[in-house]
Amino acid sequence: MPPPRRLAILISIVVITVFFLLTSFAYLNISLFSFRLPKFSFGFSSNTTTCPPNAFTDGSWAYKPKTNKTQMTSPDDALEFAGLESCASSREFYWHLASDREEQWDRFPKVSSWEWEPREGTCTIAPFNPESFVRTLVNDGGWLLVGDSITEGHFFSLSCSLYPHVIATPNYTPNSYFDRAWPQNIYLNPASPIIQTLSLPAGFNISSTPLVTFRRVDLLWTQEELEKMHKEMYPEMYDSTPPIDSDSDSEPKEFKLFSDEAAWSLSPNEYIDEIFTKPLPEANYGTLVIATAGHWTTTLFSGYRDELAGEKDGYGIHGVIDFFSKAMERWAELVQKKLDEAETERPLVLSKDSEGRSWRGLGGRGRKRRQVVVRAYLPGHEDCHDHREPWKEVQPFVWNWYNWGYIDRFNEVFQSVVSKPQYPNIHYLPIERPARLRPDAHASGDCLHIMAGVGVMEGWSKYIWHYVTKEIM
Ligand SMILES: *[C@@H]1O[C@H](CO)[C@@H](O)[C@H](O)[C@H]1NC(C)=O
Ligand SMILES: *[C@@H]1O[C@H](CO)[C@@H](O)[C@H](O)[C@H]1NC(C)=O
Ligand SMILES: *[C@@H]1O[C@H](CO)[C@@H](O)[C@H](O)[C@H]1NC(C)=O
Repeated sequence: MPPPRRLAILISIVVITVFFLLTSFAYLNISLFSFRLPKFSFGFSSNTTTCPPNAFTDGSWAYKPKTNKTQMTSPDDALEFAGLESCASSREFYWHLASDREEQWDRFPKVSSWEWEPREGTCTIAPFNPESFVRTLVNDGGWLLVGDSITEGHFFSLSCSLYPHVIATPNYTPNSYFDRAWPQNIYLNPASPIIQTLSLPAGFNISSTPLVTFRRVDLLWTQEELEKMHKEMYPEMYDSTPPIDSDSDSEPKEFKLFSDEAAWSLSPNEYIDEIFTKPLPEANYGTLVIATAGHWTTTLFSGYRDELAGEKDGYGIHGVIDFFSKAMERWAELVQKKLDEAETERPLVLSKDSEGRSWRGLGGRGRKRRQVVVRAYLPGHEDCHDHREPWKEVQPFVWNWYNWGYIDRFNEVFQSVVSKPQYPNIHYLPIERPARLRPDAHASGDCLHIMAGVGVMEGWSKYIWHYVTKEIM
């Protein structure tokens, strides 16, 4: 062999080896540390396949009617205006669609005619597709929605977005009685043609393995757990001092955290251990979607109610926020620990991911780790029923109803807790801005709950779906 040719071969070998080493290092880096990437990628806005939360919410509502029909003549028209066939859930059907009061029918079809558009060139996000969404719920794991009545609305909205490929339980049609504590589930519809195209994980039972579950949990802990925690954290508030007026025969009053205001809650020991991380066929969840803040008020946490503090200081809300921050730190610690434990209990198996690639990994089917996403909480809009259009910018509150003026504060607190590196599988999603710009999109009877089918809650589904499939590798 002539020397120049040998040299060429040698150089090629060196180049190929270096290239191979570099790419494997890059690959290793990405696969080892990618679960942290979303936490540090908020600042970037490249138009690759990613769309971090801040890029998604940097946009506006565009007017895009889905039908040529201009007048509402029946409550069912809300579906057509929204571009929906129907909804699988039968609970408070027209209340969720906000078509239950004829005097507000003038809101349609305009209210259903908006689409959220991230600013041009900042986000690449797949259009919502019910078939691929269902496929993800089967292959990568379903969603467990844990939160208050706003989250219940999100469940209803999902039951519309995924119709007719899913069914929902309980069936409220024969008897409309319900208890807010009842679990609500979305299952694969056995009649859906997509079933033939799915490769169901071993043990998956179409009629008993839910794709989505909603549990009503207002505070993320039970009230008993919070009372116990509070006593440990603030012992000074429980020191009973004798009454100043010694003539008075009144007993010293023990500090009481809660009023009798109705609230629904479960322990994380229940919704994580008994639901989220249960194995097939009982459960197949991959994503826990959390939202809380709405019930952290000085009327429920009445021990903090301070009339003297006045409206300007939120009647003692700062004490509630301080306790919230400590309770959420405990929550994040416990939840991450439970996720880690559940992971080590998964058997190593050879299996396929959602793209059909075979690989060996953790998770019973070699799928991704379970993740928790915390959806930023949402305040309502004052005088919402006077509005007929989205806003361009979020407007300040005038009257500070409920704890609405402090929701941002609760969100900041929760974000700063779960953004810590010791909670790599809990992700905060600050995606509330599109909803904050929709004063027109509330239920017919109040200004907190949001209508299904007008893009707000459907946007949460679409974005969370994107986030767990594309932003968390
Ligand atoms: C972003 O998109 C624009 C237009 O679609 C394109 O011209 C540009 O090269 C893209 N930039 C990157 C970094 O991909
Ligand atoms: C509305 O009507 C026009 C003209 O008939 C048609 O081209 C268009 O597709 C219709 N739009 C929708 C959303 O149905
Ligand atoms: C699937 O679940 C249903 C309802 O719980 C049950 O009746 C059925 O026996 C289960 N099928 C299998 C194969 O386990």
